[in-house]
Amino acid sequence: MAFRFVQITDHHIMATEAMLARGYSPSHALRAVLRHIAQHHGDVDFIVSTGDLVDKGLDEEYRTFRGMLGLRNASAAPGPQMASGEGLREVPMYFLPGNHDPREVFFRTMFPGEAPAPAAMNVAFEHKGVRFVCVDWGAANKAVTTPGMLAHLASCLADGVPAVVLSHHNVGPVGVARLDGLAADDAGRFGEVLAGRNVLAVLHGHTHLTVETALAGVKVLGLRSTHFSFAQAGDEWLYVLRPPQYRVVTVDGGVLTSEVVEVAL
Ligand SMILES: [Fe+2]
Repeated sequence: MAFRFVQITDHHIMATEAMLARGYSPSHALRAVLRHIAQHHGDVDFIVSTGDLVDKGLDEEYRTFRGMLGLRNASAAPGPQMASGEGLREVPMYFLPGNHDPREVFFRTMFPGEAPAPAAMNVAFEHKGVRFVCVDWGAANKAVTTPGMLAHLASCLADGVPAVVLSHHNVGPVGVARLDGLAADDAGRFGEVLAGRNVLAVLHGHTHLTVETALAGVKVLGLRSTHFSFAQAGDEWLYVLRPPQYRVVTVDGGVLTSEVVEVAL
């Protein structure tokens, strides 16, 4: 059955909405993106955030984040929880942790029923015949492949149900040297598990850039953050302002297509 969902990523929300990061307001940007989704794509089946929900991993940052989204209900990880912020009408939302989300605080604040908090969020959920496989590369800036994550992925892909892999970290190079190095050195092992399976795409965040690449013949889609973005100019590492984006994904007849929507600030 055809359906649509939205991906957002890398919000880096701070303790209060008034706080700025290098002069940029992450809360203003996330609110603008949520409002745009509500006005133009409010009828999607769900929204998923691929991590870095907050900036430093503080309890009060998660409280601010949850308040902005108007999250009301509890759930097991990864969701859904119903979002009502900025005009959203109780849209189900799923959440992955990124490297800015210490797992203990992430689980305690977002999924308080999970005790003790798992060390990693390797879970899956199904929606209209498609399995969404959440993979966790850890809380370091550079992705780390673990046997547990690879086993989880292999097990979720074994029966041939069409799958979408949701990842915080990039799974390969994205064309910016410093970001390329953040993928796991042995990401090829991840590719070996994907190869030949019924995987419609891998969706990721982390690099704060929108890119389309491929791994083991599978489409890999990275998405620009709602936070500020990165660029490299020679040896210089630059923090740059770009309008935030979100991705509207359509799954129809075993094919995944998507459209990137840019939001003016
Ligand atoms: Fe990030």
